[in-house]
Amino acid sequence: MSAPPKTVLHASDAEAEAIRRAVRTVDVASLGPGRVRADLSHVPGLVTLLGDPRVSDPIYDLPRPIGEESVTRWVAEAQAQALAGEGLLILTLDPKGEVSGYSKITVWPERASGELAGAVRAEAQNHGQGGTGAAHTFGWMFETLGLRLIGLTAALDNARSARLIEAAGFVPMGERDAKRADGTIRRSRYWELTRDQWRQRHRL
Ligand SMILES: CC(C)(COP(=O)(O)OP(=O)(O)OC[C@H]1O[C@@H](n2cnc3c(N)ncnc32)[C@H](O)[C@@H]1OP(=O)(O)O)[C@@H](O)C(=O)NCCC(=O)NCCS
Repeated sequence: MSAPPKTVLHASDAEAEAIRRAVRTVDVASLGPGRVRADLSHVPGLVTLLGDPRVSDPIYDLPRPIGEESVTRWVAEAQAQALAGEGLLILTLDPKGEVSGYSKITVWPERASGELAGAVRAEAQNHGQGGTGAAHTFGWMFETLGLRLIGLTAALDNARSARLIEAAGFVPMGERDAKRADGTIRRSRYWELTRDQWRQRHRL
């Protein structure tokens, strides 16, 4: 279950509606090569990707147990969220058309806020691709979707994610409990970054 950031922003009706519209209509190819919105044709590829514990174990916000049925439901829910302007499930397809990574963006339009979770296939990890991709995605969430705040969590022992998150400028804000789809709780480290902080860093 995605949880909104600890910091509570209030968006005007117009700002919230602009965010919803952006989420509904954005061309996800603008995020990078091979990016597509997930649909039911991707379920087998996602089951293979997420079936690998090196990909899915560190992530709290995934269907569990991972299988054809739970992933089908997850993709259908993500499609409904996208129609409501409240989330995007974006896949990266490799040159063979296989699912090599995913980004799940959850959006709270009335708070101008969002969350990102994601992974790349095990063979692609530790080559700098995830760090570069995540940094690019944060900028896209601020500038293309119009969010003003991103909150992120990572498992206490996920040093790799923590490094990537702090390299992007996120500010550590203690810990929080993240609830998995099966109801179990994962204690997490927690960070936030505002659009102003992002822009300052990138001198926009
Ligand atoms: C998280 C993930 C997307 C990162 O992508 P990646 O391509 O593997 O990461 P990178 O190679 O860009 O490495 C990120 C940083 O972590 C560092 N790192 C790698 N392993 C580390 C470790 N065990 N301890 C500390 N830092 C580590 C890298 O050196 C790099 O820092 P640098 O750029 O300063 O050198 C990817 O590893 C993944 O899919 N993991 C499984 C799912 C997951 O954990 N998702 C995130 C949940 S919050």
